[in-house]
Amino acid sequence: MTIYRGTVLDTPVSPFDGGALRAEADAGLAVVDGVVVERGPFAAVRARRPDDEVVDLTGGVVLPGLVDTHVHFPQVRVIGGLGRPLLDWLDHCALPEEARMADTGYARTVAAEFVDGLLRAGTTTALVFGAHYAPAVDCLFERAAQAGLRVSAGLVVGDRKLRPELLTTPEQAHADALALAGRWHRKDRLRYAVTPRFSLATTEAVLESCAAVLRDVDGALFTSHVNENTAEIDAVRALFPGHVDYVDTYHRPGLLGRRSVLAHNVHPTDAELDRLAAEGASVAHCPSSNSALGSGLFPLHRHVSHGVRVALGTDVGAGTGFSLLREGLQANFMQALLGSAGLPLTAAHMLYLATRAGAEALDLGDQVGDLSVGRQFDAIWVRPEDGCTLDVVLVRAADADDALAKVFALAGPADVRAVWVGGDRLR
Ligand code: GUN
Ligand code: ZN
Repeated sequence: MTIYRGTVLDTPVSPFDGGALRAEADAGLAVVDGVVVERGPFAAVRARRPDDEVVDLTGGVVLPGLVDTHVHFPQVRVIGGLGRPLLDWLDHCALPEEARMADTGYARTVAAEFVDGLLRAGTTTALVFGAHYAPAVDCLFERAAQAGLRVSAGLVVGDRKLRPELLTTPEQAHADALALAGRWHRKDRLRYAVTPRFSLATTEAVLESCAAVLRDVDGALFTSHVNENTAEIDAVRALFPGHVDYVDTYHRPGLLGRRSVLAHNVHPTDAELDRLAAEGASVAHCPSSNSALGSGLFPLHRHVSHGVRVALGTDVGAGTGFSLLREGLQANFMQALLGSAGLPLTAAHMLYLATRAGAEALDLGDQVGDLSVGRQFDAIWVRPEDGCTLDVVLVRAADADDALAKVFALAGPADVRAVWVGGDRLR
């Protein structure tokens, strides 16, 4: 019905596995009912479909919609709380704001700011840390559904070592989660994600109740934090003396599998990497957050060599914004800083981490993540303003890989001119 014409870049095969950037200048993508049904040189696609509407996206580049595998909805307004390590930052910046989500009117306003922030950055799919209050999580789902985004989210739960107003019980956590999942799971583009805050804030009983929700809600995701900061890891070890390591605190109750996404994992042991790989769990690498909180340099090479699936997250509000393009760039910087222990990232690696890898981590690889025939048309058009620095360097790029590197170096939300999910123009 519609042919999108432009320079299309995507990474259907992982560059960590021998794949390369797929680049087609003056491509045509024919989209029917939100699905890509044909792709090829524009002239050839047009010749076969002379009556279709043509949407001209020439100039700039068309990319798959970006996938954020770790971002906190209640933390939009605390972005920029720099200069504190994790546990200090949680106490002083994040958790006081999370307590404000008890006010549903406040939560509704922040949910609108949050969804708007994702869209402006070109994020079309996200795994979102919700709030500790079920009505606030309803606000998030409502807003995401209105906007048309693909969002997986859930109630954040913890029963120790948080401000008292954020605490729940295993029974309450279970009941609230089932009720929320009943309202939102698999409605429109939404799914439920079982979300204990982290083992430091949960007893084994709450983790068991989370596992029960995961068993009861078919197709639900699991997400939490792991191995982010050395003081946090020491505290978890002290709280779980009978467990082998931090990953084991999630593994033992049965929380790890192919729909599990653990954020950070900056300081894993080899045994933990082997466990994550064996379970098919994914890690959300959040390089801006790791830099802002001084958490450490992510051992990407060790993850890849152990066969652990890795994608990108912004981790707003420890992370410094919603742009996955900037996370790709920051990931590149941090691998460079690791020297011989780092894994040098090309532009194709960065795009893969920000799109296809995220889709696979969220178990949506058959629907989104690249712009192959059969995928949903989830896409963004990066088209800088005439004369701005990105425009100046992009028109002089040596080739598609060079152009994409320039996009990662310079593009921000202001350069994301249009956003589609399932063929619907959202922006
Ligand atoms: N660990 C537990 N909660 C959080 C959070 O809100 N942000 C980050 N970065 N780590 C966490
Ligand atoms: Zn986080």
